[in-house]
Amino acid sequence: MAHQALLRVEDGARANDVVAEALGASRLAERDRAFVTELVYGTTRMRRACHFLVERFVVRPLDPPTLVALHLGAYQLHFLRTPAHAAVSATVEVAPRRSRGLVNAVLRRVAAAPVAWPDEATRLSYPDWIVERLVADLGAADASAALEHMNLTPSAAIRDDGYPQGVASQWVVDAVGARPGERVADLCAAPGGKASGLARSGATVYASDVDPARTTTAARLVRALEATSVLLAVADGRRPPWRPASLARVLVDAPCSGLGVLHRRPDARWRRRPEDVPRLVELQRQLLDAAVMLLAPGATLVYSVCTLTAEETLGIDGWLASAHPRLAALPPPGPPWRLHGRGALLLPQGAGTDGMALLRLRRAR
Ligand SMILES: C[S@@+](CC[C@H](N)C(=O)[O-])C[C@H]1O[C@@H](n2cnc3c(N)ncnc32)[C@H](O)[C@@H]1O
Repeated sequence: MAHQALLRVEDGARANDVVAEALGASRLAERDRAFVTELVYGTTRMRRACHFLVERFVVRPLDPPTLVALHLGAYQLHFLRTPAHAAVSATVEVAPRRSRGLVNAVLRRVAAAPVAWPDEATRLSYPDWIVERLVADLGAADASAALEHMNLTPSAAIRDDGYPQGVASQWVVDAVGARPGERVADLCAAPGGKASGLARSGATVYASDVDPARTTTAARLVRALEATSVLLAVADGRRPPWRPASLARVLVDAPCSGLGVLHRRPDARWRRRPEDVPRLVELQRQLLDAAVMLLAPGATLVYSVCTLTAEETLGIDGWLASAHPRLAALPPPGPPWRLHGRGALLLPQGAGTDGMALLRLRRAR
């Protein structure tokens, strides 16, 4: 099942979708389901590293089923530390008949040979640009630790109301500080995690998102949680459907490069492109311009992103300071958050959470 799933990922399908589909159609026991998930997610995350491990012993080009079998075998040998005889024989069995001899020979050599990684990006299995960007923005030590952390399976957290939400996202909801009876907007609300969290304060939540399908998911969530104080709309956050200067708090949980949550989507690191960052920064600025228009006198604006790039955090902070100089910064949250411009940064390794950045500002009365 893992081999089939990985072939589809290699072909461009999303690992999360492929695994959910394969497991949905299977009657595997719980342990085996977890094992399939680990194999597919792990091999996808560590694709570059696994490819390095095997390519040392391969001279001719390989067809996808053979290549995927080798990656899967290398993942078990090197990262799961599966005993060599077990990993090799189980992998040979799923390889195409014509290449079983080759898969067997290559994996035996992978099991026996010492590894000298050519560079950090190969060892940690990320594209060069992500490693270079985080090293430049965070420094080598913090970048390496963040990248290592995002190769681990994310920890699960469940809210009191049963909704699974990472603690970093829960802290963002707390930072908004919504109070009973207040009108609070969430301009990028789907799939509804933070909006439904905000509603628990007793505030009325004006939630909107530009994506109809994702907003439908949010609507289902809101209904399941009986969060009746969430009003949902499909709307571009750059032109929000709410009255100007009418909200006590506005959250912009902006679309971002997601470089703080690469552990959640195993293939995201291979899909993201460096040119996404400036495009997203432009959108983040436009969303913030619109959010500022919604603030009532004395109201609070919260900007959050699940990424670690300086452009989308410090850069946005600097831009806000010049574009909206009358907004005053509010104190950032304390440890494990760290001071980051006028806002705060949460490194994923700091408390074993998602990586996140947060900035809180207030409009004068
Ligand atoms: C980080 S996610 C929001 C997650 C959500 N706040 C939660 O906690 O469940 C960013 C969202 O921004 C939405 N988005 C992208 N461009 C947008 C736009 N121009 N206006 C409003 N929403 C937008 C995406 O559809 C996506 O759902």
